[in-house]
Amino acid sequence: MGVAFSLSVQEVRMEVDRRAFIASLGGVAAVNLMDHEAKAEALEHYMEDKLDEMIAAQQPADKFPTVAEIEAQIETRPFRRGVGSVFTSNKGNVKIIEKMPDKPTLHDFFRLRFAPANHVLQSATRALKTGMSEEVVLACLLHDCVLSLIKPDHGWWGAQLFEPYIPEKSAFAIRYHQTLRFYADDDAGYEYPDQYYRIFGHDYQPPQYIADTYKMLKNHKWYMEPRLVTVNDLYAFDPNAKVSIEPFDDIIGRHFKQPKEGLGYDNSPSAHMWRTLARPDNPL
Ligand SMILES: [Fe+2]
Ligand SMILES: [Fe+2]
Repeated sequence: MGVAFSLSVQEVRMEVDRRAFIASLGGVAAVNLMDHEAKAEALEHYMEDKLDEMIAAQQPADKFPTVAEIEAQIETRPFRRGVGSVFTSNKGNVKIIEKMPDKPTLHDFFRLRFAPANHVLQSATRALKTGMSEEVVLACLLHDCVLSLIKPDHGWWGAQLFEPYIPEKSAFAIRYHQTLRFYADDDAGYEYPDQYYRIFGHDYQPPQYIADTYKMLKNHKWYMEPRLVTVNDLYAFDPNAKVSIEPFDDIIGRHFKQPKEGLGYDNSPSAHMWRTLARPDNPL
């Protein structure tokens, strides 16, 4: 990707790698289904992510912020960091969001609320390529989707969102990947991520409930389920990788119990969460 970078953020000029951008949206077929507004929105998100990557790449590893420095940024924003991505915009005002169909499916949510979903598609693609179980592939595909709704404790929220529709092992993997992200496991090939030094502070200590959850998981017979999600949980995006949801259609078909009434309208314990994602502009 050709990139020009100068010191002032306003002057940053980014050239979009068209192939990588289209791949990040799930391929040409997926892009053809998007209306103009959705495409513009997706491009904006893509540019924001690229900008974050560029800025991160400029930062020497020993220059990670402290917890105190991160806390000092709180009052510089009109929103809190934990707000779900459908509720805010990093740049200016939010846009009109495309309406969901009457009986929305998981695919509809991927297209209209979780998009571009680049990170989860890439994680699941890696899980598929390395021959992981279908439960783990599904968990990788869904593990961060709830970030559109809410960010703190996203492992627990995400597991709750999907639990009525997916295998127990996949829900377990989603719930606990959040905890295991804080703990390296050399044997499994998982290192503590630099990204966490950046977003939590280099001197951050996970709270007691996370430490307790880790202790529980270490002795759990399903420890490897969430651990494998962390192993596939990558930030880097390979511009040559073609990620899309189609390779997961069979796994979704076998393991995701799509309700005939549509997600949000089946009276499941998480139906209200799907409805909130569908209508983020509702005042109450
Ligand atoms: Fe996550
Ligand atoms: Fe992730």
